[in-house]
Amino acid sequence: MDHFLYRNGVLHAEDVAIPDIAAAVGTPFYVYSTATLTRHYHLFTEALSPLPHLVCFAIKSLSNVAVLKTLGNLGAGMDVVSGGEYLRAKAAGVPGDRIVFSGVGKTREEMRLALTGGIRQFNVESEPEMRALSEVATSLGVTAPITVRVNPDVDAKTHEKIATGKKENKFGIPIARASKVYAEAATLPGLQVIGIDVHIGSQLTELAPFEEAYLKVADLTRQLRSEGHTITRLDLGGGLGIPYARSNEAPPLPTDYGALIKRTVGDLGCEIEIEPGRLISGNAGILVSKVIYVKNGEGRDFLILDAAMNDLVRPSMYGAHHDIVPVVEAPVASPTQEFDVVGPVCETGDTFAKGRDLPMVAEGDLVAFRSAGAYGAVMASEYNTRPLVPEVLVHGDHFAVIRERPTFDEILNRDTIPPWL
Ligand code: LLP
Repeated sequence: MDHFLYRNGVLHAEDVAIPDIAAAVGTPFYVYSTATLTRHYHLFTEALSPLPHLVCFAIKSLSNVAVLKTLGNLGAGMDVVSGGEYLRAKAAGVPGDRIVFSGVGKTREEMRLALTGGIRQFNVESEPEMRALSEVATSLGVTAPITVRVNPDVDAKTHEKIATGKKENKFGIPIARASKVYAEAATLPGLQVIGIDVHIGSQLTELAPFEEAYLKVADLTRQLRSEGHTITRLDLGGGLGIPYARSNEAPPLPTDYGALIKRTVGDLGCEIEIEPGRLISGNAGILVSKVIYVKNGEGRDFLILDAAMNDLVRPSMYGAHHDIVPVVEAPVASPTQEFDVVGPVCETGDTFAKGRDLPMVAEGDLVAFRSAGAYGAVMASEYNTRPLVPEVLVHGDHFAVIRERPTFDEILNRDTIPPWL
């Protein structure tokens, strides 16, 4: 459930009418709902209770500092994968001891940044990275708490570009080598082994792959303990999927996921961390766009929007489906029409949907892409010199722009002309 509902035929974000935001900020824009973010965060904390746990929001899915502050104020931890994301978490007021650092290629500078600013743990992904972290921590005279991310060789049954838990993927160390890696970790100065980390992919729509992975982690916990390691924390990653096509998708609920965690690793006495991104942010955001033209093509009609693949790349990058709805609801039983929904960017790949059945829409009408909160704004670019679209946060009956649309001057001023020109 989210808080983007029609009232008197007009789409609202909580108590704010979408056309009011459009009038104030122009289109296209992203808009996020505080109530939805809050609700989704609490679904996880409730699903994991009474286990000791920390829900670390995967910042990569939606990294606006105002959103992070909204979640951080509720007590959320943060999962970061770069120095930049770490600084965003800190800027949102999240204390270091609630920030976990993931990612396959942390640089020494990033390690230094986090060790100086405070960090809950590093999720280490390889032996060379572990050795580098040991050196950096030692040089700073501090101890870095670590988990090792294991690759359990599990098929997450999701899109190949976002599956991370198979042995051919670049992530983690093969689980069969874990014993050796933990033995080395125990000998390295500046490191303190505290747990195990696993993340097998994103947009999982079944629980079975999680179960397979978590059972392997449970076995590994027992094994590593028998080898003398102290394992007090399990980071179980993110990945729980959301319904994108609402009419026919029903992925597992956080309560079922929580029950699975309790069943598989709940008896180990470990503190549980999870790193959900999409389930918290995905349906907490929509992208609002305006119809520029309705173009009649050869055997098909195109709806040309002012949003494009640079604003929301998921359809062209992953063939992803996003429900597209008119902001002003069509009267019941009014006719529909099939459209190819496209943006103005000069690529055929700039297509949001093909043959999509939509109510009759006309030039100037507003439409909304649902489920666009996660991996929407964060993956946007300025391709075709199209300014990054603004982000708006709604809270009850008021809203605020939380990232302005840059002006063309700002964009052009980032380019500098070398002295010889
Ligand atoms: N933890 C780690 C280590 C991750 O790599 C990811 C996502 C997450 C947590 C959060 O996963 P989530 O709960 O959001 O599924 N751009 C793609 C998704 C890439 C996901 C990358 N890693 C998309 O638009 O579908």
